[in-house]
Amino acid sequence: MDTILIKDMLALDADSRSVVVRGWVRTKRDSKNLVFLEVNDGSCFRSIQLAFDRTKGLSADTEAALERAATGSSVEATGSLVSSPAAGQSVEVAAAGLSVIGDAPAESYPLQKKKHSFEFLREIGHLRARTNTFGAVARVRSRLSFSIHEFFQKRNFQYLHTPLITASDAEGAGAMFQVTTLDLDALAKAGKPVDYSKDFFGKRSYLTVSGQLEAETYATALSRVYTFGPTFRAENSNTTRHLAEFWMVEPEVAFARLEDNMALAEDFLKHLFSCALADCREDLEFFDARIQNGIIANLESVVASKFAHMTYTDAVKELEKSAGAFEFKPYWGCDLQSEHEKFLTEKVAGGPVIVTDYPKEIKSFYMKLNDDGKTVRAMDVLVPRLGEIIGGSEREEHLDLLRTRLAELGLKEEDYWWYLDLRRFGTVPHSGFGLGLERLILYVTGMANIRDVIPYPRAVGQAEF
Ligand code: 4AD
Ligand code: MG
Repeated sequence: MDTILIKDMLALDADSRSVVVRGWVRTKRDSKNLVFLEVNDGSCFRSIQLAFDRTKGLSADTEAALERAATGSSVEATGSLVSSPAAGQSVEVAAAGLSVIGDAPAESYPLQKKKHSFEFLREIGHLRARTNTFGAVARVRSRLSFSIHEFFQKRNFQYLHTPLITASDAEGAGAMFQVTTLDLDALAKAGKPVDYSKDFFGKRSYLTVSGQLEAETYATALSRVYTFGPTFRAENSNTTRHLAEFWMVEPEVAFARLEDNMALAEDFLKHLFSCALADCREDLEFFDARIQNGIIANLESVVASKFAHMTYTDAVKELEKSAGAFEFKPYWGCDLQSEHEKFLTEKVAGGPVIVTDYPKEIKSFYMKLNDDGKTVRAMDVLVPRLGEIIGGSEREEHLDLLRTRLAELGLKEEDYWWYLDLRRFGTVPHSGFGLGLERLILYVTGMANIRDVIPYPRAVGQAEF
């Protein structure tokens, strides 16, 4: 007797073979001589229908199990795979036996067969993967993660594991979570000063905001590397696009200029969209029908067209023409707000746009200075609905210019001594970028809130589960 996942079962011919179905009951319909159970095991979007025919004689155990098999209960059923008269499925199981493995009492199981709000489902994060939406998000997330590795591995990038605990601020923005084993309460009570030389690492340390700086050290040895792991930001931004813990992919390429970096980012995103279209079809069809109308056609058209390019200076000119449309008035030197980013993609470019050459004041210390002395070789990839999905740059490879930037920003050279060494020994032009995995999933699925595309969101005031 085959024990196979429902995904594989649904792809088989209705050849009456014996099958065992294991999963969780979505619905039960009892109509006199026939009882139908929809069973889902999360292996794909669809459930399989089990049809129990009383005229064929069901055992007393199976009748008792049918009585207990409520929405959410786990079951095991045996039967044979036959063609289905119902619409939307080619096969179903003519079921003979059923046992309930774990009950889910209707009076207490929170996920009854009705539409629940995403807000409510966030409160039962441990159960929400059993819904259509969160099952689909999880599968898309898994497939895209695999596609990320596939893309870089095919291009001879080495996968690099950068540390999660670090003493350096990779973005120089100070939005870091501190890591300590000191008993700060006890020190405060005793009125003693905090001495970080006595801390676990002998100095102040933090959760990383980005693996970029360490990735640069390996890119200047292995030529092409990428990181893919969790990053942490203690930004107090309570938006639908920010998390305190998110997954970032950061390729870093030696000898690459900003133009190469832009091309890599565009190829990368198109590869990921194509993979989602090809391998997550059923899930995307659901998102298209129920979450964001037209998402499939949109992804298809993005894959087929060239991303627009625009300098920051030109972008600001475009924004100034429609200044009245914004809450934050745009001006040269302003950090682009998400309303500006959305306007540039939705109204100006009509699709993804790569904005380059931002003022140095609003970007990180490591970005390469342009000849104008005012702008840096930065690039942000902006997409409709979201704004920034990728941020990257060509890196400053000249020691003197990098030291000047650190000094201008009040960052201490001794904190970056090893990073500066890369410019002392065998320096090369190099570039890279970071893609936020959750932003990618938001874009591909059409989901509206970033807290709904990561299993357990970490955000301001939120660390449950
Ligand atoms: O633009 P960011 O801050 O760039 C870096 O961290 C660079 N070190 C990347 C590099 O050049 N290697 O972040 C990169 C991307 C953003 O474009 C966004 O997609 C995502 O990371 N991101 C966040 N996603 C969710 N929540 C947050 N708080 C995020 N902050 C950034
Ligand atoms: Mg950025």
